Amino acid sequence: MADPKPNPWNEAPAPGEKWLPAHVYARDRDWHGYFRSLAHLGPRESLLKALASFEAEGAADRHAVDLGCGDGRDTAELLRRGWRVTAIDGNAEGLERLLRRNDLVHRERLTTRLEGFEGLRLPEVEFVNSSFALPFSQPGEFDRLWAEVVRAIRPRGRFAGQLFGDHDDWAGMPDRTVHSADQVRGLLAGFEIEHWQEEKRESVVDPTAHPKRWHVFHLVARKKG
Ligand SMILES: C[S@@+](CC[C@H](N)C(=O)[O-])C[C@H]1O[C@@H](n2cnc3c(N)ncnc32)[C@H](O)[C@@H]1O
Repeated sequence: MADPKPNPWNEAPAPGEKWLPAHVYARDRDWHGYFRSLAHLGPRESLLKALASFEAEGAADRHAVDLGCGDGRDTAELLRRGWRVTAIDGNAEGLERLLRRNDLVHRERLTTRLEGFEGLRLPEVEFVNSSFALPFSQPGEFDRLWAEVVRAIRPRGRFAGQLFGDHDDWAGMPDRTVHSADQVRGLLAGFEIEHWQEEKRESVVDPTAHPKRWHVFHLVARKKG
């Protein structure tokens, strides 16, 4: 019987080790810690919403980019739903973990690219998915990267993912890009917004030891035709 776990590591904290909330690893770009602590989780809600919209339109041979795919929790779902996927990440361990997932099907439809966002060029696709990744682009890079995302999405294709808001705790960090709600609407000027959730909350994972104020935009948007 197939192992129901999405990864073969069965990771757990070592004796005496206590995992931190995932946002602490993400704050420090400790992607090893991040992947370990979240390895049990499935696809993001924003991805699932976008896929439901695509499927309501009827499916053809479709190609998605998963930008900042990490260990592939969204990529695995895209493949399972019949997409061709170009999965891109700057972290080699993320891509290794992706390729070793137990829930990876249709491996022949997957292309992985170990590349940073900086200077990245994308193929033209129906869908760019980028979950919790674009705000980590290096300083000064975001606008070029976003323009490339917009260019790469074919008319009536979609973007799904997250951007960080300007009230997030990380707003002052020099290597994080944040936006106001008006700025996010400006970025999506060429799109119809299909899902917009502006999340503002205090972290409840471990608020005493690792408080975090989250300000995140969860987005699905369809490029105008
Ligand atoms: C918070 S994780 C999200 C991973 C995955 N999309 C998910 O939803 O779990 C951010 C990912 O972006 C990647 N990343 C961050 N900055 C990057 C950069 N400048 N270039 C390429 N990848 C980057 C990291 O390696 C990491 O896998």
